[in-house]
Amino acid sequence: MKTLLKGGRVIDPASGLDAVMDVLIDGSQVAAIAPNIAPEQAYEVVQLTPQHWVTPGLVDVHVHFRDPGSPDKETTETGAAAAIAGGFTTVCVMPNTSPVIDSTPMVQYILNAAKPTGIQIFPIAAVTRGLEGEEMTSIGTLVSQGAVAFSDDGKPVASANMMRKALEYSKMFDVPIVCHAEDCSLFGNGVMHEGYYSTLLGLPGIPSVAESVMVARDIELARFTGGRVHFAHISSKESVALIRKAKAEGLRITAETTPHYLALTDACCQAYDPDFKMNGPLRAETDRQALIEAVMDGTIDMIATDHAPHTPDEKSMAFDCSPNGVIGLETALGVVLTQLFHTAKLSPTAIIELMSSKPAEVFKLKDSGKLSVGQRADITVIDPEQEWTVDPAQFRSKSRNSPFKGQTLKGRPVMTFANGQCLLQQSEALQASALV
Ligand code: DOR
Repeated sequence: MKTLLKGGRVIDPASGLDAVMDVLIDGSQVAAIAPNIAPEQAYEVVQLTPQHWVTPGLVDVHVHFRDPGSPDKETTETGAAAAIAGGFTTVCVMPNTSPVIDSTPMVQYILNAAKPTGIQIFPIAAVTRGLEGEEMTSIGTLVSQGAVAFSDDGKPVASANMMRKALEYSKMFDVPIVCHAEDCSLFGNGVMHEGYYSTLLGLPGIPSVAESVMVARDIELARFTGGRVHFAHISSKESVALIRKAKAEGLRITAETTPHYLALTDACCQAYDPDFKMNGPLRAETDRQALIEAVMDGTIDMIATDHAPHTPDEKSMAFDCSPNGVIGLETALGVVLTQLFHTAKLSPTAIIELMSSKPAEVFKLKDSGKLSVGQRADITVIDPEQEWTVDPAQFRSKSRNSPFKGQTLKGRPVMTFANGQCLLQQSEALQASALV
C-alpha cells in the first residue's frame, strides 16, 4: 500500500528541510520526499496545500498512562488513542503505576501493552524500587530490556546520595535520569504556587524554591558525576536561570516544560477548579514569561505534556483535596501553536524541534523525530490555521481533566500516520482519494 501526501510544507528539523514537497509512504517507510512525485496506479493520494505542515510524528517524553493500576483513569489503549488524536506517534510513559515499573517483567509489560496501539511507547523505569527512595533499581538490566530513562516522577529522589549513585550508574548506559524537582520539606502541604493568589485564595502555597533548590542540587550532582540529568516539567523562572547557566558551562543537562506552564498562570486557580491543579503548580506571569523566553533561546529543550489523567470524581473534590495532574495530549499542539506560533515567537521548525526531533534525540529514540527517506513513516499533518474549541467530551483519553476546556485554540493535527498507517483523519477535506 502506497500513500502520497501531495503539496504540503514538509518540515524536518533534523535535516533542515522546510519546503513544499510530496512525501511517498510505502508500507511502513518513507519511500521518497521530492517535489511533484507523479502518482501511480493504486497510490492513495492525499491532496494537501502549502498551508499544511507535514512533520515527523510528535514525541512526548512525559505521559502517565496509569497502566497497570488505574484503568478507570487511562489505559495504554486510551492513552495511545489520545496521543494519536494529538498528533503524537511516540510517547514515554512514567513509572508511577501500580505496580511501579521497576523490574524486567514490568518493562516487558509496557512494551507488550504498546504493541497493538500502533504507536511507539517507551518505558521510563523507576530510579528506586517502588519509588520508595531506598533501593536503586537494576538500571543496566532495565536498559537492556528497553527502558529509555529513569525517574521517580511524581516524587523527587529525596536523597542526594541516591541521586549521585543513580547518575553514576546511568552514565555507564548513557541514559538520562529524569528529575522531578521538588524539595518535600519546602513543598510542605502546598496545593498551588505560593504568591499573591495563594494568599488571596487562602490556600497553602508551594514556593518556587521548592523546585529550584532541587534543580540546583541536581545540576551540582551532574557536574560531580558527569551523568545526564533531564529536568521534568520546569515551571519557575529561578529554575530556568539555573539551567541556562549550567548549560553555558557545558553540563549534560536537558529540560522540558509543559504547554500549561506556557499558557496559564496561578490566576487560573481563582475558581478553585482542580482542573488547574498539578505538581509543579501553575506559577506567576513572570514565570510564564521566563519559560517562553527559555523555549525561544533553547534553555528549555522540549515541550512535554505531563499528561496526568484523573477521574471526574477525584477532580470534583475540593481544590486542596483533589489529586495533582492535568491531561494534555489532545491539546498540546493547539496550545503551543496558539501561544508560540501565532504570536510570532517561534518558527514552525522551532516548534517541531521542541515537540519531535529534540525529545527523540535526547532520549535516543532512533525511529522517532525524523522525516527522511528510509525512516519509519511516523508523520503528522498539521493545519496551523484551523480554529477549534476544546470540548473534553470529545477526548479519546478516558479522563476529562483539562485546564483548556472551553478554550478556542488555533492549529491542530489533521492526520497522524504511525508506521505508515493513517490512524487519524480529522478533516473531511483531506479524505484520501484512491487513484486508479
Ligand atoms: O501533577 C502531577 N501529576 N505531577 C506529577 O509529577 C505526577 C502526576 C501524576 O502522576 O498524576
